[in-house]
Amino acid sequence: MTRNAMIDEWYPVGIAGQLDAHGRKTALMGEPIEVGRGEDGNAKVTGANGRALPACIRYGHVWSSLGDPQKPLFAIPEADQPGRRLVDVGVVRVRCSPLRAVENFLDIAHFPFVHTDILGAEPHTEVQNYKVEIREDEDEVWATQVKFYQPQAAKSAEGGITTEYMYRVPAPTCSILYKTCPPRPGEWDVITLFVQPLAEDLCDVWPWMALFDDETPMTDLIHFQQTIFVQDRSILENQIPGLLPLDPGMEIPTRADLTSVAYRRWLKRHGYTYGAQLVAQ
Ligand SMILES: [Fe+2]
Repeated sequence: MTRNAMIDEWYPVGIAGQLDAHGRKTALMGEPIEVGRGEDGNAKVTGANGRALPACIRYGHVWSSLGDPQKPLFAIPEADQPGRRLVDVGVVRVRCSPLRAVENFLDIAHFPFVHTDILGAEPHTEVQNYKVEIREDEDEVWATQVKFYQPQAAKSAEGGITTEYMYRVPAPTCSILYKTCPPRPGEWDVITLFVQPLAEDLCDVWPWMALFDDETPMTDLIHFQQTIFVQDRSILENQIPGLLPLDPGMEIPTRADLTSVAYRRWLKRHGYTYGAQLVAQ
């Protein structure tokens, strides 16, 4: 069997602020791992048979890999921008493919039906045209000029507004959403989805945010995002097939699914197939 290209990628394995010397047991792509703090104070991640795994701390989380990452973790320049609140939302465990979790995050058509009266509401169900591309230099999937009517776009939003979004996929199980920032026109709020693949059909989702919002209490910011992701969980755990189909024709895309089509094409091109269902041609 060929080595899956996803082995050499970075994955979130815990919240950096919760590291302790004792270590926390979890898993990465089917391998039991332990995430703790080493004697030098840095994150220490141990795989099966005591194997030391790569580790780094970024964006509020500990990152690791079962393989040999060829690049540093992707950049989020906004994370270092002064004045942003950095929010560790916590973890939502979802019984679904890690790739399905990312694909769902990229899909706005479900907002009025799943996040009713928060991120969407009937009759505002139409997804307007937007742009999708695979940026070859960065090797990332981008969707831009995505616009959607939202009754309550963010904790800091008062009343309904048309929100503009950009989506970015810099790694097979990570996505970054840039969203109109109500209190700071011209800037984008950053909401990420970092997915830890525990198994091909099980993942821990670690949302993280970098927001311009000085007013909302931290617990409200966390609660708002957790509410959204728990709503998504019930959809994700009932998707059939459970793994993400990567061959064209298995699911019929609609116009709103352009980002999903590009994401699947990009995954297939790289052989990022952990959590995917491939059908022999
Ligand atoms: Fe959702």
